[in-house]
Amino acid sequence: MNEPVNQRLDGIRVAFVMTGSYCQLARALAAMSELVHQGASVLPVISYNVRDFDSRFGKAAEWRELIADITGVEEIIDTINGAEPIGPKSLADIMVIAPCTGNTIAKLALGITDTPALMAAKSHLRRGAPLVVAISSNDALAANAKNIGLLLNTRNVYFVPFAQDDPHNKPTSIVAEMELIPETVAAALTGKQLQPVMR
Ligand SMILES: Cc1cc2nc3c(=O)[nH]c(=O)nc-3n(C[C@H](O)[C@H](O)[C@H](O)COP(=O)(O)O)c2cc1C
Repeated sequence: MNEPVNQRLDGIRVAFVMTGSYCQLARALAAMSELVHQGASVLPVISYNVRDFDSRFGKAAEWRELIADITGVEEIIDTINGAEPIGPKSLADIMVIAPCTGNTIAKLALGITDTPALMAAKSHLRRGAPLVVAISSNDALAANAKNIGLLLNTRNVYFVPFAQDDPHNKPTSIVAEMELIPETVAAALTGKQLQPVMR
Protein backbone atom coordinates (compact mmCIF):
# COMPACT_ATOMS: atom_id res chain seq x y z
CA MET A 1 0.00 0.00 0.00
CA ASN A 2 1.09 3.58 -0.61
CA GLU A 3 1.73 6.02 2.20
CA PRO A 4 -1.28 8.32 2.64
CA VAL A 5 -0.99 11.04 0.01
CA ASN A 6 -1.31 14.79 0.40
CA GLN A 7 -4.78 15.51 -0.94
CA ARG A 8 -4.35 19.23 -1.55
CA LEU A 9 -3.34 20.06 -5.09
CA ASP A 10 -2.77 23.80 -4.72
CA GLY A 11 -1.19 25.32 -7.80
CA ILE A 12 -0.92 22.01 -9.65
CA ARG A 13 -1.68 22.36 -13.35
CA VAL A 14 -3.70 19.39 -14.58
CA ALA A 15 -4.42 18.79 -18.27
CA PHE A 16 -7.70 16.85 -18.19
CA VAL A 17 -8.42 14.88 -21.35
CA MET A 18 -11.85 13.36 -22.00
CA THR A 19 -12.56 10.62 -24.56
CA GLY A 20 -15.72 8.95 -25.82
CA SER A 21 -16.84 6.68 -23.02
CA TYR A 22 -20.00 8.73 -22.83
CA CYS A 23 -21.52 6.87 -19.89
CA GLN A 24 -18.55 7.92 -17.72
CA LEU A 25 -18.34 11.60 -18.69
CA ALA A 26 -20.49 12.81 -15.80
CA ARG A 27 -18.45 10.82 -13.29
CA ALA A 28 -15.20 12.14 -14.76
CA LEU A 29 -16.55 15.68 -14.57
CA ALA A 30 -17.25 15.22 -10.88
CA ALA A 31 -13.60 14.26 -10.43
CA MET A 32 -12.53 17.28 -12.48
CA SER A 33 -14.60 19.41 -10.15
CA GLU A 34 -12.90 17.84 -7.13
CA LEU A 35 -9.46 18.61 -8.59
CA VAL A 36 -10.46 22.27 -8.85
CA HIS A 37 -11.86 22.12 -5.32
CA GLN A 38 -8.51 20.84 -4.11
CA GLY A 39 -6.68 23.81 -5.64
CA ALA A 40 -5.62 22.52 -9.06
CA SER A 41 -6.04 24.49 -12.27
CA VAL A 42 -7.49 22.41 -15.08
CA LEU A 43 -6.72 22.68 -18.78
CA PRO A 44 -9.46 20.75 -20.61
CA VAL A 45 -8.93 18.67 -23.77
CA ILE A 46 -11.58 16.60 -25.58
CA SER A 47 -11.30 13.96 -28.29
CA TYR A 48 -12.97 14.47 -31.64
CA ASN A 49 -15.69 12.05 -30.61
CA VAL A 50 -16.51 13.95 -27.44
CA ARG A 51 -16.41 17.19 -29.44
CA ASP A 52 -18.60 16.03 -32.28
CA PHE A 53 -21.17 13.50 -31.10
CA ASP A 54 -24.29 13.66 -28.98
CA SER A 55 -25.25 10.43 -27.24
CA ARG A 56 -28.01 9.19 -25.00
CA PHE A 57 -25.83 10.34 -22.09
CA GLY A 58 -25.82 13.99 -23.17
CA LYS A 59 -25.26 16.45 -25.97
CA ALA A 60 -21.74 17.49 -27.01
CA ALA A 61 -22.57 21.17 -26.48
CA GLU A 62 -23.80 20.48 -22.95
CA TRP A 63 -20.59 18.65 -22.02
CA ARG A 64 -18.61 21.66 -23.25
CA GLU A 65 -20.68 24.01 -21.12
CA LEU A 66 -20.18 21.89 -18.03
CA ILE A 67 -16.43 21.70 -18.63
CA ALA A 68 -16.24 25.47 -19.06
CA ASP A 69 -18.28 26.01 -15.89
CA ILE A 70 -16.00 23.77 -13.82
CA THR A 71 -12.66 24.96 -15.18
CA GLY A 72 -13.41 28.57 -16.07
CA VAL A 73 -11.79 27.82 -19.45
CA GLU A 74 -13.96 28.71 -22.45
CA GLU A 75 -11.55 27.55 -25.16
CA ILE A 76 -11.46 23.81 -24.66
CA ILE A 77 -8.66 22.16 -26.65
CA ASP A 78 -10.37 20.09 -29.32
CA THR A 79 -7.92 19.88 -32.21
CA ILE A 80 -4.54 18.21 -32.75
CA ASN A 81 -3.02 21.62 -33.46
CA GLY A 82 -4.42 22.97 -30.22
CA ALA A 83 -3.05 20.06 -28.18
CA GLU A 84 0.45 20.03 -29.66
CA PRO A 85 1.91 22.86 -27.49
CA ILE A 86 1.01 21.20 -24.18
CA GLY A 87 4.39 19.49 -23.89
CA PRO A 88 6.73 21.94 -25.60
CA LYS A 89 5.27 24.90 -23.71
CA SER A 90 5.13 22.88 -20.47
CA LEU A 91 1.45 23.72 -19.93
CA ALA A 92 0.70 20.93 -17.40
CA ASP A 93 2.39 19.34 -14.40
CA ILE A 94 0.32 16.21 -14.86
CA MET A 95 -2.21 14.90 -17.38
CA VAL A 96 -5.32 12.83 -16.73
CA ILE A 97 -7.22 10.95 -19.44
CA ALA A 98 -10.67 10.31 -17.96
CA PRO A 99 -12.60 8.53 -19.15
CA CYS A 100 -10.09 6.76 -21.37
CA THR A 101 -11.72 4.58 -24.05
CA GLY A 102 -10.37 1.27 -25.32
CA ASN A 103 -9.77 3.09 -28.60
CA THR A 104 -7.51 5.69 -27.00
CA ILE A 105 -5.74 3.07 -24.83
CA ALA A 106 -4.92 0.99 -27.91
CA LYS A 107 -3.61 3.92 -29.92
CA LEU A 108 -1.64 5.32 -27.01
CA ALA A 109 0.01 1.94 -26.43
CA LEU A 110 0.91 1.65 -30.11
CA GLY A 111 2.13 5.19 -30.71
CA ILE A 112 -0.75 6.39 -32.87
CA THR A 113 -1.52 10.12 -32.64
CA ASP A 114 -4.64 11.03 -34.59
CA THR A 115 -6.91 12.79 -32.09
CA PRO A 116 -6.52 15.83 -29.79
CA ALA A 117 -6.48 13.43 -26.81
CA LEU A 118 -3.60 11.39 -28.22
CA MET A 119 -1.67 14.47 -29.34
CA ALA A 120 -2.02 15.89 -25.83
CA ALA A 121 -0.69 12.66 -24.29
CA LYS A 122 2.21 12.31 -26.71
CA SER A 123 3.19 15.94 -26.33
CA HIS A 124 3.07 15.69 -22.51
CA LEU A 125 4.88 12.33 -22.23
CA ARG A 126 7.72 13.43 -24.45
CA ARG A 127 8.98 15.72 -21.72
CA GLY A 128 8.84 12.96 -19.12
CA ALA A 129 5.80 14.29 -17.24
CA PRO A 130 3.27 11.97 -15.52
CA LEU A 131 0.14 10.72 -17.27
CA VAL A 132 -2.81 9.23 -15.33
CA VAL A 133 -5.19 6.95 -17.23
CA ALA A 134 -8.75 6.25 -16.05
CA ILE A 135 -9.86 3.40 -18.24
CA SER A 136 -13.45 2.66 -19.21
CA SER A 137 -13.59 -0.10 -21.78
CA ASN A 138 -15.86 -3.02 -22.56
CA ASP A 139 -12.98 -4.94 -24.14
CA ALA A 140 -10.38 -4.32 -21.44
CA LEU A 141 -10.10 -8.01 -20.62
CA ALA A 142 -10.33 -9.02 -24.28
CA ALA A 143 -8.86 -7.25 -27.33
CA ASN A 144 -7.45 -4.44 -25.22
CA ALA A 145 -5.84 -6.46 -22.44
CA LYS A 146 -2.49 -6.48 -24.23
CA ASN A 147 -2.58 -2.71 -24.70
CA ILE A 148 -3.37 -2.09 -21.04
CA GLY A 149 -0.48 -4.41 -20.24
CA LEU A 150 1.85 -2.33 -22.38
CA LEU A 151 0.80 0.87 -20.65
CA LEU A 152 1.08 -0.67 -17.17
CA ASN A 153 4.71 -1.23 -18.08
CA THR A 154 5.30 2.25 -19.56
CA ARG A 155 7.34 4.83 -17.71
CA ASN A 156 5.42 7.86 -16.41
CA VAL A 157 2.02 6.23 -16.99
CA TYR A 158 -0.18 5.62 -13.92
CA PHE A 159 -3.61 4.04 -13.65
CA VAL A 160 -6.61 5.16 -11.67
CA PRO A 161 -7.49 1.95 -9.77
CA PHE A 162 -10.00 -0.08 -11.74
CA ALA A 163 -12.38 -3.00 -11.37
CA GLN A 164 -14.73 -5.16 -13.38
CA ASP A 165 -17.97 -3.18 -13.30
CA ASP A 166 -20.40 -5.96 -14.29
CA PRO A 167 -18.57 -9.31 -14.40
CA HIS A 168 -21.58 -11.44 -15.28
CA ASN A 169 -23.19 -9.31 -17.96
CA LYS A 170 -20.02 -7.63 -19.29
CA PRO A 171 -17.25 -10.10 -18.44
CA THR A 172 -14.48 -8.24 -20.30
CA SER A 173 -15.38 -4.73 -19.11
CA ILE A 174 -13.26 -2.64 -16.76
CA VAL A 175 -14.00 0.81 -15.36
CA ALA A 176 -11.75 3.00 -13.26
CA GLU A 177 -12.94 4.34 -9.93
CA MET A 178 -13.19 7.92 -11.16
CA GLU A 179 -13.61 9.15 -7.58
CA LEU A 180 -9.97 8.13 -7.00
CA ILE A 181 -8.63 10.48 -9.68
CA PRO A 182 -7.46 13.19 -7.22
CA GLU A 183 -5.73 10.62 -5.02
CA THR A 184 -4.11 8.92 -8.04
CA VAL A 185 -2.89 12.33 -9.25
CA ALA A 186 -1.41 13.15 -5.85
CA ALA A 187 0.42 9.81 -5.76
CA ALA A 188 1.63 10.09 -9.38
CA LEU A 189 3.07 13.53 -8.64
CA THR A 190 5.39 11.78 -6.19
CA GLY A 191 6.22 9.05 -8.75
CA LYS A 192 3.96 6.44 -7.17
CA GLN A 193 1.14 4.26 -8.48
CA LEU A 194 -1.83 4.40 -6.11
CA GLN A 195 -2.45 0.88 -4.79
CA PRO A 196 -4.21 -1.45 -4.96
CA VAL A 197 -4.52 -0.73 -8.66
CA MET A 198 -7.03 -3.57 -9.11
CA ARG A 199 -10.03 -3.37 -6.79
C1 LIG B 1 -23.09 5.75 -26.57
C2 LIG B 1 -21.67 5.28 -26.71
C3 LIG B 1 -21.00 4.83 -25.58
C4 LIG B 1 -19.68 4.39 -25.68
N1 LIG B 1 -19.04 3.97 -24.56
C5 LIG B 1 -17.77 3.55 -24.64
C6 LIG B 1 -17.08 3.13 -23.47
O1 LIG B 1 -17.61 3.15 -22.35
N2 LIG B 1 -15.80 2.71 -23.59
C7 LIG B 1 -15.16 2.68 -24.79
O2 LIG B 1 -13.99 2.29 -24.83
N3 LIG B 1 -15.78 3.10 -25.93
C8 LIG B 1 -17.07 3.53 -25.87
N4 LIG B 1 -17.71 3.95 -27.01
C9 LIG B 1 -17.00 3.88 -28.29
C10 LIG B 1 -16.07 5.09 -28.49
O3 LIG B 1 -16.81 6.29 -28.41
C11 LIG B 1 -15.38 4.93 -29.85
O4 LIG B 1 -14.46 3.84 -29.78
C12 LIG B 1 -14.64 6.19 -30.28
O5 LIG B 1 -13.93 5.90 -31.47
C13 LIG B 1 -13.68 6.67 -29.20
O6 LIG B 1 -12.87 7.70 -29.70
P1 LIG B 1 -11.94 8.53 -28.70
O7 LIG B 1 -11.20 7.53 -27.89
O8 LIG B 1 -11.05 9.31 -29.61
O9 LIG B 1 -12.84 9.42 -27.92
C14 LIG B 1 -19.03 4.38 -26.93
C15 LIG B 1 -19.71 4.86 -28.06
C16 LIG B 1 -21.02 5.29 -27.96
C17 LIG B 1 -21.70 5.79 -29.20
